[in-house]
Amino acid sequence: MKKIIKAGMLGIGNVGRGTYQALEMNRHKIAESTGFDIEIVKILNRHPEKNRGIDIPKEKYTPDPDDILTDPEIDIVIELIGGIEPATEYMARAMQHGKSVVTANKAAIAANGKKLSRIAQENHVLLRFEAAVAGGIPILTSLTTALLSNRFSEVHGILNGTTNYILTQMAQYGKSYEEALSDAQAKGFAEADPTADVEGLDAANKLSILISLIFGVDASPEAIPTQGITKVGSADMVFAKESGYAIKLLASARESDGKVYGNVEPVLVPVSHPLASVGNEYNAVFVTGNAVDDLMFYGRGAGPLPTGSAVLGDVIGVARKLEKDSAYDIVPQLRYDSDPPFAGEGESKYYIRMMVPDRPGVLGVITTVFGQHGISMETIQQKAPYEEDGERVAPIIFIVFKTGKARLLEALEAIKGEGVIKSVDNIMRVEE
Ligand SMILES: NC(=O)c1ccc[n+]([C@@H]2O[C@H](COP(=O)([O-])OP(=O)(O)OC[C@H]3O[C@@H](n4cnc5c(N)ncnc54)[C@H](OP(=O)(O)O)[C@@H]3O)[C@@H](O)[C@H]2O)c1
Repeated sequence: MKKIIKAGMLGIGNVGRGTYQALEMNRHKIAESTGFDIEIVKILNRHPEKNRGIDIPKEKYTPDPDDILTDPEIDIVIELIGGIEPATEYMARAMQHGKSVVTANKAAIAANGKKLSRIAQENHVLLRFEAAVAGGIPILTSLTTALLSNRFSEVHGILNGTTNYILTQMAQYGKSYEEALSDAQAKGFAEADPTADVEGLDAANKLSILISLIFGVDASPEAIPTQGITKVGSADMVFAKESGYAIKLLASARESDGKVYGNVEPVLVPVSHPLASVGNEYNAVFVTGNAVDDLMFYGRGAGPLPTGSAVLGDVIGVARKLEKDSAYDIVPQLRYDSDPPFAGEGESKYYIRMMVPDRPGVLGVITTVFGQHGISMETIQQKAPYEEDGERVAPIIFIVFKTGKARLLEALEAIKGEGVIKSVDNIMRVEE
């Protein structure tokens, strides 16, 4: 006899549909290999009249969250409504009613993971969120099971499919940022309002979760220095191609000298690095552990079925623990220690593209001011000058040796004060 596990699902959007569909597709296989017959018995649907494009018995729908959150028959609540509230409140209430929770919600976990983990522990239930980071890639489960013996020194993720698609299209087909964005929107890889993706906020939420899981450090998304891809232009793409780099929006964190650093920004990644070849809407996570060494996970970071696969993996994991009655984590997955404190971005090599007036002495002033700020130059490239608004101007690209971003920005302000820069058009980290 198969053990029946009853789940209630909040939301029937993209991931809700994908989760339901993946369960229907693989129900037999799941039951064969686990001994559980997982049933999604109730679904919160605030617009039952909407055609959801999937065949679900109408009687499963309820417009009232309490029908699920307080139902004594339900073992697991799957939260797929998204957003911080009311999702956090619903997850908290479900756990207070003795239900374990599975969610794909990075925004809610990044904002309220500490509180939700505490509620899970207090109520001896489980909180799982594999799908919240890198969609279908089982990175969190791998880090907390097969890789648990490692101490990790660094993690770099391509964690946002929208921005990776845009950057890939710009690099491969010479599209402008605007063209690549509307192409991504037409193909369903970007939302009508793409701000959270293109400004790096979505990746910062995911990095915040990874930092808490890998380094045990409290780094809220607001504390993570974050720069999106909106300033990346075709001049940057040309430089990258000519110089052996790919431009990727990386969410990176590392531990060194007893501190944890991290940030999200477009980075020049050498083409020889495995992350450089991760194209279009795909995601990847590259980690370095002190036993396993370098390891890269690659796959679909979004989409109904890939994300549904991760959600169901968590549901099965929770069901297994419930079966053994080891229903709560002795050690919570997420840790939020304040020692060491999160140290923001550390030092790095940087790429700076600026526009200067085409006149003698400009380069001398710039290099002198950089020198006064302790910043040394690795390469300088001046591009052909041209006429703009009645003035001859020239783009210049600098790569500077390792420095802190704050110091670099200070030096650029001082250079602006000398009146020798028309604009600083882009700054990107250079991965070594
Ligand atoms: N899309 C992906 O590929 C992906 C990948 C990884 C993680 N995620 C995460 O998965 C979650 C769901 O994403 P999604 O793409 O499935 O979103 P979605 O397509 O917008 O679906 C959200 C669903 O929740 C419902 N909903 C929203 N607020 C509600 C409320 N207050 N009360 C009741 N129902 C509510 C919506 O109802 P209506 O349809 O009636 O408006 C819709 O059915 C998010 O946390 C997202 O970050 C998504």
